[in-house]
Amino acid sequence: MSVPASGPLQGQRILLCVGGGIAAYKALELVRRLRDAGAAVQVAMTAGAQRFVTPLSFQALSGHPARTTLWDEGAEQAMGHLELARWAERIVVAPATADLLARLAHGQADDLVTTLCLASTAPLAVVPAMNHRMWQHPATVANVALLRSRGVQVIGPDDGPLAEGESGPGRLREPDAIVVELAAFAVPATATAPPGLLQGLKVVVSAGPTYEDLDPVRYLGNRSSGKMGFAVAASAARQGAQVVLVAGPVHLATPPGVRRVDVRSAAQMRDAVAAALPADIYIGAAAVADYTPRAYSPNKIKKTAGGQTLAVDLVRTPDILSEIADRHDAGLKLVVGFAAETDNIADYARSKLVAKRLDLIVANRVGVPGAGFESDDNAMTAYWPGGERDFPPAPKLRLADDLVHLVAERLRGDTR
Ligand code: C5P
Repeated sequence: MSVPASGPLQGQRILLCVGGGIAAYKALELVRRLRDAGAAVQVAMTAGAQRFVTPLSFQALSGHPARTTLWDEGAEQAMGHLELARWAERIVVAPATADLLARLAHGQADDLVTTLCLASTAPLAVVPAMNHRMWQHPATVANVALLRSRGVQVIGPDDGPLAEGESGPGRLREPDAIVVELAAFAVPATATAPPGLLQGLKVVVSAGPTYEDLDPVRYLGNRSSGKMGFAVAASAARQGAQVVLVAGPVHLATPPGVRRVDVRSAAQMRDAVAAALPADIYIGAAAVADYTPRAYSPNKIKKTAGGQTLAVDLVRTPDILSEIADRHDAGLKLVVGFAAETDNIADYARSKLVAKRLDLIVANRVGVPGAGFESDDNAMTAYWPGGERDFPPAPKLRLADDLVHLVAERLRGDTR
């Protein structure tokens, strides 16, 4: 699977910063893939990276001399490092070692790569690769959280065999997958890019789980990762829509060009969605809790002596999707729901389409390996009155693009 040269990376100027880890050899392949996707690539390397691969290899693949130091008079004369930082419309750090992540998180500028990252206003993506203990060390976890909180896109790592013979989370994501993720977060390269399929439309997307609090320390939640909804929001923004993303509690970076509203409970999600209206399209991709505790206990609920069971009284949450579909003042032209089902998918999805008065429902099978809630991949079928379309298993980022195309098609085909 690859990103076509006519896709969102077409013409984008990408600065690839290569860190000093064994995965640096895969950065060579990444240059190729980025260029195949239509991007212009320049490369900067840390001193460590040069111990694994040579600048000459990157020069051959990128078509530009690779930059290796701040102190190269010849290179500075051709294009000063601040000029290179300005040239970049996107910076990708791959592999991002634990050390490089730490230096980036803390704003250091002690070599060429960190100086370029600090001197640029371009969106930054990091692709970590390291030993699994280094990745899971609290220091790295905190550095990555800090970078994410600044809107840095974190791609991977994958879980699997590592260079030193161990196995765990820390493998560099494969170059093809990196390019797909970069494309999913790309904003149109130029103001002269052709208008998108949803140009001029306002889209509200809800994503992620909701947490229903029982007391100050406990809640009822679910395993939704929010990845599908975030991918749909990103895709809609790339197609020119004005997007409001109402997000339950998830740790995902906000896609470029998207206005994000963070919420926790189903009630808060309903209020935030209502506040975002009027809109042209509502896409309810959140896994909203169906029940919430009848009463919130302001004090931690205690074990009572001898009590072997505890009954929690739950009440229904508002059905956001049905409420929205009923609102005739909201200007909605299309309302889209999701259905996560384990069996009888087509029947349940079609009955939900009718019961919730939707224009389109996207059903996906949960409980099978490689699809559903926490996975990066999914397989789904969309149903609308009088039609359906199957989307075979693919990364959620790709499926999101396909879904946005279908939404645009349905919108052109009929209005409510
Ligand atoms: O009925 P079910 O929960 O399977 O329906 C799923 C669809 O309904 C999803 O699009 C979800 O976002 C939406 N929903 C909602 N409010 C609820 C429950 C589900 O908007 N309280």
